[in-house]
Amino acid sequence: MSPATVARWGVMGKKDRQTTILVVDDEQVHRYMLCSMLREWGWRCVEADDGDTAVAAVEKHAYDAVLMDVRMARMDGREAFFRIHALQPSLPVVIMTAYSSVDDAVEAIRHGAHDYLTKPLDFDRLRLTLERAVDHRQVVEQQRGSEEAVPLLTSIIGSSPPMLELLEMIRYVAPTEATVLIAGESGTGKELVAEALHQNSLRRNGPFVRVNCAALAETLLESELFGHEKGAFTGADRRREGRFVQADGGTLFLDEIGETTQAMQVKLLRVLQEQELQRVGGEETISVDVRIIAATNRNLEEEVRRGSFREDLYYRLNVVMLTVPPLRERGDDVELLVRHFAAIFAQKNRRRMEGITPECLALLRRYSWPGNVRELENAIERGIILMRGEQLTEKSLPLTIQKIRDEQEAAASARPQSLSDVEKEMIFQTLDETGGNKSEAARRLGITRKTLQNKLHKYDGEL
Ligand SMILES: Nc1ncnc2c1ncn2[C@@H]1O[C@H](COP(=O)(O)OP(=O)(O)OP(=O)(O)O)[C@@H](O)[C@H]1O
Ligand SMILES: [Mg+2]
Repeated sequence: MSPATVARWGVMGKKDRQTTILVVDDEQVHRYMLCSMLREWGWRCVEADDGDTAVAAVEKHAYDAVLMDVRMARMDGREAFFRIHALQPSLPVVIMTAYSSVDDAVEAIRHGAHDYLTKPLDFDRLRLTLERAVDHRQVVEQQRGSEEAVPLLTSIIGSSPPMLELLEMIRYVAPTEATVLIAGESGTGKELVAEALHQNSLRRNGPFVRVNCAALAETLLESELFGHEKGAFTGADRRREGRFVQADGGTLFLDEIGETTQAMQVKLLRVLQEQELQRVGGEETISVDVRIIAATNRNLEEEVRRGSFREDLYYRLNVVMLTVPPLRERGDDVELLVRHFAAIFAQKNRRRMEGITPECLALLRRYSWPGNVRELENAIERGIILMRGEQLTEKSLPLTIQKIRDEQEAAASARPQSLSDVEKEMIFQTLDETGGNKSEAARRLGITRKTLQNKLHKYDGEL
């Protein structure tokens, strides 16, 4: 157990003396064992021997959390969870499951269960999970008690419908212990989303540690994540703790998870399941308490189908998936972001900026932003640095963006202006295709040869 974990538990006994947990399991021996342990940890404990009894108990009494087995003889845990959740959405339910029926638990998490534990139970983890569940409940109750919901701490800018939906999901998922997979094109803001999840979680005072899985070769990545013993490989002149240990009590952000090798994926899966690891070249087993958030710009589902990403790891990571929309789908957010970055870079570069010309703004809104927010940020930085005068104009934007204006203007002037222009273009095109054969062209156009002849005469006259 880590020192951070011990420190947190040190105060728990006193704080949570009145806290009551409903333990639901149809095996008497399990209930007895769980309850005696929970009581020893300072919680009050009420037992229910099946789903029905549990639902009835929740209807009548107030609990701080429910710990429930998923497989039970009469009403199973899944169904009981849905009924309990419908009765009291803020009551945290922790589900116990065998690894073979983890699907049910994952489905429950998607529908609002607090967390799940796989059997055989790891008791350290059980205690920590219940402690978090109770904390979560208190936070939710406080939010409800105050006039307004606690504002979401985030530097994510956006008010378009897809971004509001994303922010709502962040608010909902952040305080849980669920592993989150963030998907989205490059530069859409996946890292910002990961930070927001951490900042709005109960782990916010713990570390947020980021590892870019694409930046290191497999062996280096392994020692980066898990640490190594002295002498584990050439150059390992002292023991080093890995990122998992550094993130203990906090969040570990595994960026570009889609770039890991299969061998690495197996090792990651093991740590995610056991919350335990060994340093490279070491024997000692180290327990860690880490919430995992992963990101990728690949389509992992597709990679799983093709066999390049392990299905079991995908499953573990994808308890909740957040998709960050590309900038081209965010409408007015472009303008918000442009103004935001323009103000930041003007200040940073000591430029006086009075505004952005309407033409410049129109161009920025029309551009498709294949590099998303990162591209926009860079474009505005460049624009501010190269700005002449006190207005940001399209002239100081990167050429790739200016080009679309020229292309659009060219396309607009080349486009036929009227119905007769369209007709004329079609006639000449058909004549080209038939090698100048007027009878064939007329047939293809669905007019008589005579009509075609007349039209051609008319065009001659126009020249
Ligand atoms: N909604 C937003 N509001 C403000 N800044 C943003 C927003 N989205 C992204 N940014 C900024 O854009 C840049 C790119 O974002 P970020 O690094 O989070 O993208 P990413 O999705 O992780 O990209 P990649 O896949 O390339 O790693 C960062 O500087 C970030 O601060
Ligand atoms: Mg990133």
